[in-house]
Amino acid sequence: MEKIIITGGERLKGRVGISGSKNAALPIMAATLLTNGVTTLSNIPRLKDVTTMARVLRTLGAKVEFREKELKIDTTNVDRFLAPYNLVKTMRASFLVFGPLLAKLGKARVSLPGGCAIGSRPVDLHLRGFEELGAEVSMGGGYTQVKRDGLIGAEIYLDFPSVGATENLMMAATLAKGKTTIENAAKEPEIVDLANFLNKMGAKIKGAGTDTIRTIGVKELKGTDYSIIPDRIEAGTYIIAAAITKGDIILEGAKIDHLESLITKLHEAGVEIEDEPASSTSTVDAEEASAGPPMRRRERVIKVKARRRIKAVDVKTMPYPGFPTDMQAQFMALMSITPGISIITETVFENRFMHVSELLRMGADIKIEGSSAVVKGAKSLSGAPVMATDLRASAALILAGLVAEGKTEISRIYHLDRGYERIVEKLSNLGAKIERVKQ
Ligand code: UD1
Repeated sequence: MEKIIITGGERLKGRVGISGSKNAALPIMAATLLTNGVTTLSNIPRLKDVTTMARVLRTLGAKVEFREKELKIDTTNVDRFLAPYNLVKTMRASFLVFGPLLAKLGKARVSLPGGCAIGSRPVDLHLRGFEELGAEVSMGGGYTQVKRDGLIGAEIYLDFPSVGATENLMMAATLAKGKTTIENAAKEPEIVDLANFLNKMGAKIKGAGTDTIRTIGVKELKGTDYSIIPDRIEAGTYIIAAAITKGDIILEGAKIDHLESLITKLHEAGVEIEDEPASSTSTVDAEEASAGPPMRRRERVIKVKARRRIKAVDVKTMPYPGFPTDMQAQFMALMSITPGISIITETVFENRFMHVSELLRMGADIKIEGSSAVVKGAKSLSGAPVMATDLRASAALILAGLVAEGKTEISRIYHLDRGYERIVEKLSNLGAKIERVKQ
């Protein structure tokens, strides 16, 4: 077991390169199952969740090879359709192989993902959608099984714009007979990235990024090359790291238009954030520089400065383009040390305040009232031993540790490895006093 030790109080300064998006990479990896060919994905983040998805694909018969930031996936021999409990339980996104397997092989048997720390997280919307496409859904022994040779296009309305359900159904629809419409679809940038990838493989999808996605089924999809979009949640986390430490940093490779709601809220709070053309004097290390397509990564940078006193603002999480639930914990860390009162309301997940009890141990003043947290900015936080409970909660504790007086020791950091590439190294390059040690 390892832990992270942070000595708070350093202002972050310098440049940080943003990695490829975890939440775009996972469904795109699953989508390779739709073809019988070879796909090369670039700007792949080296994360535990990506390794888990690679294991799921191998279990199904695919060949998966990592080369630096690239992933070569050969799905020529995929003939198995069972995604087992031991893999699905470690990562809910494994459920995304369902749509592609059903569309490709006419059947899929995938372990039910079950609940997780942030809520019960059912998959009813995915399954109802598969039924609309003509599949027969059955459950037993903790597994869901779906059958249907030749899916038939349908009109699907999602009761909630679920990211996973939109992705699973959009993938299944690419090979269904005729036209499929998904109404009240999720609009996240990761949905658009998946649709762009599927279209590059030969799919006919229109409207991704809007409420209505229309797909006309095709006979087959072909392997292709594709570069994954940058991780907007990783970028948002570094923006808050600069704000909380009154720092001055430059993000390379992030896309500012994916971060609008967060930036609007931070502007309201008084943080200076702007994007500008990248200069030729990038100081990001060589490995970072090779992480993505040079043109796209170098085009623009995001500058973050937090020199002025910032003030408390309220936020409410919503599906995209609303404020992302995946930034709620990090934003709360910032508000816990910002003068004034901030009300943070979580509407996407039912139980996403586990970081609160750990922030309280560091001296934060937060009260939970139903789905809202009332955060009264403390004068200072103090370092303490704390425990990470999920991925974004872990990030919030790191942020609090960066500004707390004294040492913060964070245990159970395996959650961080699921979603933040080389976070200790990136933060130390920005001047943080942070290390990873064996417990
Ligand atoms: C994805 C992201 C996750 C992010 C979330 C919301 C990935 C790999 N993960 O998760 O980081 O926090 O979007 O932006 O991309 N729901 C149902 N029935 C369903 C499906 C979902 O009730 O069939 C509910 C969930 O319990 C949750 C809400 O809808 O309360 C949002 O879930 P969803 O958008 O599906 O999130 P994920 O795709 O699991």
